[in-house]
Amino acid sequence: MTQLPIIIDTDPGIDDAVALLMALTSPEFDVIGLSVVAGNVSFEHTLANTLKVRELTGRPDVPIYPGCDRPLLREPVYGLFSGAGGLGKAALPEPTLSAETEHAVDFLVRVLGEAAAGHRPKPTLCPIGPLTNIALAIAHSPEVVAGIDRIVLMGGAFADLGNRSIAAEFNILVDPHAAQIVMACGAPIVMLPLDLTHKAIATFERIDAIRALNNPVASVVADLLTFWDRRDVDRFQTRGGPLHDPTVFSYLLNPEWFSGREGFVAVEVASELSMGHTVVDWWGQTDQPPNALVLTDIDADAFFDDLCRRLARYVKSAP
Ligand code: RIB
Ligand code: CA
Repeated sequence: MTQLPIIIDTDPGIDDAVALLMALTSPEFDVIGLSVVAGNVSFEHTLANTLKVRELTGRPDVPIYPGCDRPLLREPVYGLFSGAGGLGKAALPEPTLSAETEHAVDFLVRVLGEAAAGHRPKPTLCPIGPLTNIALAIAHSPEVVAGIDRIVLMGGAFADLGNRSIAAEFNILVDPHAAQIVMACGAPIVMLPLDLTHKAIATFERIDAIRALNNPVASVVADLLTFWDRRDVDRFQTRGGPLHDPTVFSYLLNPEWFSGREGFVAVEVASELSMGHTVVDWWGQTDQPPNALVLTDIDADAFFDDLCRRLARYVKSAP
């Protein structure tokens, strides 16, 4: 099997944790590293949570790089649904290994620069948090964009409105200036916005199927997703929470379960009312060429069935 080299930029966060548990047990991926950013909770917690989740996966070979602890320009905004520490009430083992000393931005510049120079395969960047680290790497060394195969990110909201504000999806709202840099960088971009992830609800039935896997990691995931329940039947027509971040890896593994269309995406960075709002030109009304494939539909049953299959691989407790 030819593995897909990926770099995951993450802000755990309950759905990030599930995404990492899914990605790190998928042999289709060569996970070059995890870069950490502040987001769902403060950087202190997102870094600690990334270390804890890696411990649970039994993958000490995957390095963790500490990144930015605040957005480029704006005051920090944190998430509302992952609990104070960022992993709900789940008790994960204390990490026995530490993070790398190299900053995430330096890591990204180094690896992408090597790829741009042809010294390694070009990785797919998988940002599932605010885009601060990615934007800083691009601003630091614009030539590294040539070393990116694709950017496949969870973020944005189009026909569906915002979650952390009425107008904006959280990852973009936290650092809209970073998002603006990334959307303009010229690398091929695939976006998985709320329009898609709000169709991937971790319902109680789906949580029960995960818990029935009866292994320690699946039990942690079931506990995390139980905490993730939004209780917002008006918006989601069911109990449960939208499982945003794992959809990025499901798309990489099974693109046929997803659909969308290309468009020109822009980010609001001026209006306080709609800060971080993402707009898309589907019909060529601007003179701008498309800069992203925006995915809006998912085969949610196939996604959750595959998530279960992958979590079932944790048949014994991770060391
Ligand atoms: O809006 C959802 C996104 O914001 C997810 O990535 C979640 O983990 C938070 O980072
Ligand atoms: Ca996230």
